[in-house]
Amino acid sequence: MKTDLTTKFGIEYPIYGFTPSEHVAAAISRAGGLGVLGCVRFNDPEELDAVLTWMDENTDGKPYGVDIVMPAKIPTEGSQVDLDSMIPPEHRAFVDRTLADLGVPPLGDDAESASGVLGWLHSVARSHVDVALKHRPALIANALGSPPRDVIDQAHAHGVPVAALAGAVDHAKRHVANGVDVVIAQGYEAGGHTGEIASMVLVPEIVDALGDSAAVLAAGGIGSGRQVAAALALGASGVWMGSYWLTTAEYKLGSASGDGPSSVQRALLGATSADTVRSRIYSGKPARLLKTKWTDAWSRPEAPDPLPMPLQNILVSEAHQRMSAAENPDVVAMPVGQIVGRMNEIRPVAEVMVELVEGFDQAVARLGSL
Ligand SMILES: Cc1cc2nc3c(=O)[nH]c(=O)nc-3n(C[C@H](O)[C@H](O)[C@H](O)COP(=O)(O)O)c2cc1C
Repeated sequence: MKTDLTTKFGIEYPIYGFTPSEHVAAAISRAGGLGVLGCVRFNDPEELDAVLTWMDENTDGKPYGVDIVMPAKIPTEGSQVDLDSMIPPEHRAFVDRTLADLGVPPLGDDAESASGVLGWLHSVARSHVDVALKHRPALIANALGSPPRDVIDQAHAHGVPVAALAGAVDHAKRHVANGVDVVIAQGYEAGGHTGEIASMVLVPEIVDALGDSAAVLAAGGIGSGRQVAAALALGASGVWMGSYWLTTAEYKLGSASGDGPSSVQRALLGATSADTVRSRIYSGKPARLLKTKWTDAWSRPEAPDPLPMPLQNILVSEAHQRMSAAENPDVVAMPVGQIVGRMNEIRPVAEVMVELVEGFDQAVARLGSL
């Protein structure tokens, strides 16, 4: 399973794992892939610094990457107080009413209310890059556009290649023109922010359009070795997976008790590939989420239009916290892709990696025998 990029990064398998959990990211790197830590949730650069120190110490010297979010269309900047004041009272009333209707209790007296994700503001994402470059990332990836030219130059000055997600050929070409080294062709079926073109169409389209100018990773809907083989057959140099790691044993984010599967994981385990929806209610930009009573409520005619980034997430952040504390799998807010239909048990990352590699070998053998 050697490709141009496995050699470049010094990894065993062409499997790149995006995850917001440092425990999962480190396990992916230790298992021979490249774990990529999502930084968007870190509003405090010191917390990110501590987590990356932990990554440095827990990856057995293997490479890992970081992922930031710098949207090409820059969201409204402002302090937490400024941004809070931009949220219309009718939106807040809708959220309160919906949570009451869904039976989600208020936070306990001792709980501090979450402030919302600010990592997609350029000011905060720049702090992520500054902190990351004090550690040893092998890759900096960016969602929602090319990072600004000076950020690409900053990474290159440290010898760190830059990747960017693309949902269309035009985006991919723009990334390369801006100096991006690796394009992640991410199809419609993917979890999180996603475009409108399916992976089966998008990956070869981007591979052909870019030729030798940049390596391409395939993302969206991958959760088996057969799909890894298919992605390489389509011309990709590897796969970039996000959803599949959410049901690994190492994923503990959003788990109130810490023991056994969290309510989110239980919801994911029970979902089929038809149980996702692409909606702006998580961040203000279209993102694929698990379909639940919460997403259903926002699709009713009386629901308000979601607010632009970053206001929508600030609006719903306490709601997310309340749903997480309520531990009801029917009412959760979680980005996930259509591959959720294959996510049927909680397993350690290392076991998932072995299965991906074995499945790849079997697929290649089968094709060879045809
Ligand atoms: C829970 C979750 C959060 C995500 N957050 C980000 C993010 O912050 N930055 C990013 O580049 N991609 C993010 N993504 C997208 C992944 O990087 C990846 O492209 C996608 O999950 C691939 O498709 P898949 O979900 O079918 O594996 C997220 C995906 C999920 C499931």
